[in-house]
Amino acid sequence: MMDLFGQEEESRILELRKLLDEYNHMYYVQNRPVVSDFEFDRLMRELQDLEARHPELADPNSPTQHVGSDLEKGFRQAVHQYPMLSLDNTYSQEEVQDFFHRVEGLLNEPFEICCELKFDGLSISLVYHEGKLVQAVTRGDGVKGDVVTENVRTIASIPHTLKGGSGYLDDFEIRGEVLMPWASFDELNRQRELSEEPLFANPRNAASGTLKQQNPRIVAERKLDSYLYYLLGEDLPGNSHYENMQAAKSWGFQISEHMKVCRSLQEVMDYINYWDEERRNLPVATDGIVLKVNSIRQQKNLGYKAKSPRWAIAYKFQAEKALTKLESVSFQVGRTGAVTPVANLAPVQLSGTVVKRATLNNANFIESLDLHIGDMVSVEKGGEIIPKITAVDLDARKGAQNLQPVRFIDRCPECGTPLVRYEGEAAFYCPNSATCPPQIKGRIEHFISRKAMNIDGLGPETVDAFYQQGMINEITDLYSLSELEISSLDRMGTKSAQNILKSLDESRKVPFERVLFALGIRFVGETVAKILARAFKSLDALENATYDELIAVDEVGDKIARSILEYFQSPANRIILERVRQVGLQTRLSEVQMASLSDRLQGKSIVISGVFMHHSRDEYKSMIESNGGKNVGSISAKTSFILAGDNMGPSKKEKANKLGIPLVSEEEFLKMLEN
Ligand code: IVH
Repeated sequence: MMDLFGQEEESRILELRKLLDEYNHMYYVQNRPVVSDFEFDRLMRELQDLEARHPELADPNSPTQHVGSDLEKGFRQAVHQYPMLSLDNTYSQEEVQDFFHRVEGLLNEPFEICCELKFDGLSISLVYHEGKLVQAVTRGDGVKGDVVTENVRTIASIPHTLKGGSGYLDDFEIRGEVLMPWASFDELNRQRELSEEPLFANPRNAASGTLKQQNPRIVAERKLDSYLYYLLGEDLPGNSHYENMQAAKSWGFQISEHMKVCRSLQEVMDYINYWDEERRNLPVATDGIVLKVNSIRQQKNLGYKAKSPRWAIAYKFQAEKALTKLESVSFQVGRTGAVTPVANLAPVQLSGTVVKRATLNNANFIESLDLHIGDMVSVEKGGEIIPKITAVDLDARKGAQNLQPVRFIDRCPECGTPLVRYEGEAAFYCPNSATCPPQIKGRIEHFISRKAMNIDGLGPETVDAFYQQGMINEITDLYSLSELEISSLDRMGTKSAQNILKSLDESRKVPFERVLFALGIRFVGETVAKILARAFKSLDALENATYDELIAVDEVGDKIARSILEYFQSPANRIILERVRQVGLQTRLSEVQMASLSDRLQGKSIVISGVFMHHSRDEYKSMIESNGGKNVGSISAKTSFILAGDNMGPSKKEKANKLGIPLVSEEEFLKMLEN
């Protein structure tokens, strides 16, 4: 413990309370954690210790006295029947031993510890009445939470109706974690990268951001999952936590397969050590192990403290991190003009790779860490895709001389234009979209990408070379390139040049919706482009749409509508659009698309599986969409039917059978769309 005088301790207490409140807000409300869990827990402990030494400074509002709150505007709130507590955290195996011996001393009789994974998502409370899900509530501030029932209903692993006839309790609550599997998380971030939306730092933030969406359809698309780990109610079916979880499993809940009842400290430690390594092979993120006294009677005997039960503890895995020096900060400009600060670090080994750079998110992030060039910083990779700076070693700074604080730039590093910040956004932008080089090149790279115009043979390097030579300045310039010009570039032969020209020519057939996506309008990703194309049918109609007409479209909100209006208002964009028409790109839905446009499949979720004779998979996908249906990747209870070709996989067939989902043949499907 630091040796501080009373006065200093008091101001440290106040400082820590303020800091921890801010960190809680960033974590639970903004979904943008600014420090690592480890750092957070360390500061919390420091505050707890100081408060214990100064009972006269006790404050019921201190972050030590309540759990962080994720309450958000726009949701109805409900009070939890039983408060939603948190768990005591530890990072040390000695403290796990202390916990074991404490329980031993308090109970003074044989006991079992149920060990399980600590899932890294957000906690949810589900209330069932007579076998039906009636309410789903987030943890909120522990006393009351946000009601997110409709969103939770889109999670396939959460049953709307329970199995097991009358085997379940009439009234009970079950708690667990909502999470985003790694696969869904990677896919979501890939999509967001394409539409230049900020990436989610980890699956927990993504799950939390998703569950707080106002539109359940977006939630459904994002493929959340769940694990339940705590049953509450009168007359529970079993005498132990483990038995209760098995009962819950038989009612249809997803329970982790990796729970283990341990009878000795050695078994507990073996479990911890096994999963510290093995968790890397799980499809979902975990951040520790939870140990629970198994017997419900013994749990009651042990009881609760203010924020946590005495019968459980969480052992948290150390995130993989390293300490290194911040050498400089550079600023990157993306295709939309967003400026991202990047830390250049002294190279350091981190979970098997050498890390030299880390993201710094935005100006607020730099400020909240009070970063200085030359600082020693902690870099973590934990669940994150991009390494992240999570803390500054302030002691090291004290010894260093004259470190300069990191200043966010006020002009674009590429074109010198003063940066702007839009209302409500953390990012700074370079507004010079017309002539700022990385923005121009970024737009062209996006235009040629696979999901947009899919121009073969062109990549970022060629785009850069064309641009450097003054051959292209905006997307439609690509269509005026000649074979001679292209093959004049280094390492570019006639054959490659011909391929590029062929691919450009073929792109004139790319459907309107992809052309719309390729234009790179901010917030108009692949899905939104499809919806807009269906709703407005032509570029002309979209160009003339009013704000009200735009937001009347399902899934188009204020943010997207404004961005579209802004795009079409720009004179430079209008010139480009004129050229888009001149070079012969598709600017309206094709006859075939128009003819097939209907609402025949409205509200239907359809899985495509197998090999087809009459049309390609992609064609079937777009038929489903243009008839108002939704093509989904995997079979669940909510699937309306399976469009089944030849050779459908046996496991899919079995799943469809089990859930009673009809298989529709290619011919039957085409008939459905006929009349
Ligand atoms: S039990 C009163 N079991 O960790 C005990 N919690 O830091 C209730 N968590 O709020 C919690 N996996 O969101 C429990 N297997 C597990 C868990 C788990 C993740 C989360 C949960 C809780 C937090 C406590």
